[in-house]
Amino acid sequence: MPESRQGEAISLEVGVTVAGARTFYLESYGCQMNFSDSEIVASILAGEGYRSAAQPDEADLLLLNTCSIREKAEETIRRRLREFRALKKRRPTLQVGILGCMAERLKNQWLEQEKLVDLVVGPDAYRDLPRLLQHLGEGQRAVNVLLSREETYSDIAPLRLDSNGVSAFVSIMRGCDNMCSFCVVPFTRGRERSRDVCTILDEVKGLADGGYREVTLLGQNVDSYRWAPDDGGVISDFADLLERVAQAAPSMRIRFSTSHPKDLTEKVLHTMARHDNICNYIHLPCQSGSSRILELMNRTYDRNWYLSKVDEIRTILPDCAISSDIIAGFCTETEEDHADTLSLMRYADFCMSYMFCYSERPGTLAARKFADDVPEEVKKRRLSEIIALQNELSLSHNRRDVGTVAEVLVEGRSRRSDERMRGRNLQNKMVVFEDVSACKPGDCVRVQIEEATSATLMGRLIP
Ligand code: SAH
Ligand code: SF4
Ligand code: F3S
Repeated sequence: MPESRQGEAISLEVGVTVAGARTFYLESYGCQMNFSDSEIVASILAGEGYRSAAQPDEADLLLLNTCSIREKAEETIRRRLREFRALKKRRPTLQVGILGCMAERLKNQWLEQEKLVDLVVGPDAYRDLPRLLQHLGEGQRAVNVLLSREETYSDIAPLRLDSNGVSAFVSIMRGCDNMCSFCVVPFTRGRERSRDVCTILDEVKGLADGGYREVTLLGQNVDSYRWAPDDGGVISDFADLLERVAQAAPSMRIRFSTSHPKDLTEKVLHTMARHDNICNYIHLPCQSGSSRILELMNRTYDRNWYLSKVDEIRTILPDCAISSDIIAGFCTETEEDHADTLSLMRYADFCMSYMFCYSERPGTLAARKFADDVPEEVKKRRLSEIIALQNELSLSHNRRDVGTVAEVLVEGRSRRSDERMRGRNLQNKMVVFEDVSACKPGDCVRVQIEEATSATLMGRLIP
């Protein structure tokens, strides 16, 4: 997923302090779904009269929205909790809450093993926050980790406190029914369910009216979106939803993430081809290039199926960029399997990938059935080969753009230099250019691309 990558620990600090009211400080880790959930949590807390604090030491309630995807993600949270412990020593009235996937995975263990934690709330229980906070107010600790088959928070307007006012994320579904053998998500986020199409359209229209220029439709597996209205009306699949979103917000760029190769249909590709405002970019995680490993991963496609999906995308959308997620060193992976991953990457010519060493997660199918038998140093070496190849592919992709004109949606100043602006082209590539005074965030500009690295395109604004 763009910007805050799937499973990476990037923190989002929600700002704005108002004197007098109780205050919360919320930090988010993990995938965009978690960041999107944090906006729901912020909205519910605001409804309870809470104000958000810019710093942990200004808040009465510290919340961590957590990720369990790899062991490292959980270690980051535990480190952060140790820092919170120091704060609580100085201020015993301070309360600490764990939200999200790690709350769901470890449930009551939090309260049994971690004296610091007062509140544990799983991803489907945020609506219960007012009641849980009341318990806290009465000096009790509180837990709700019930998963739901229905909850989509469709009626709660997210509080977009951290937004740049240009791009926003809209959740269209929750949970996952896929059961990839390595993955903890089906356990932490429960069964897959889609959100009412009308509430999605309302939210997108609201964003367009509010001046937003880009929306990313979010789900673990957006292509299996399916909404059947109660009145027996027409069922919408993901292609239908995309079509309606593209029509409802013609001034906005539409993106989506993540696509599972088995569910990405020709109908979706043709819908993308029909609408200029749907970006030609698909995040299509392969995980591995070896059919034998894909079978153990329970991905339900093999190497050839994946490659034929890539061919289909190239035929229907010739200039579509494809990115991926790749796991190095899954159980029993041989050098030959690894070589298959490298050759698949070359064939698919990924513009970008998120790449990880396999990390065994308790309770998953793989943890129960297979030994985590690839030595750590072998995993790391294979990962570094995957990263090196991806850098080469990204660089050659970007070099092909030199000399072309990119349509760039301006996001703000470059992170490296105040004299430059940054934005993204239609394939989601980062473009940096000078001439700061000539445009502002939200503008769509044309940039002549003059230079490229593996991560960024650089160019000149065309007046
Ligand atoms: N729903 C998305 C991905 C969700 S998790 C999809 O199906 O593609 C994001 C990525 O984290 C996965 O694509 C996978 O590459 C990686 N991941 C998940 N579990 C992992 C594990 N146990 N070890 C290493 N990487 C993992
Ligand atoms: Fe995890 Fe697979 Fe679901 Fe993605 S599709 S969230 S990798 S189980
Ligand atoms: Fe992490 Fe949960 Fe997302 S485990 S990747 S925050 S769904």
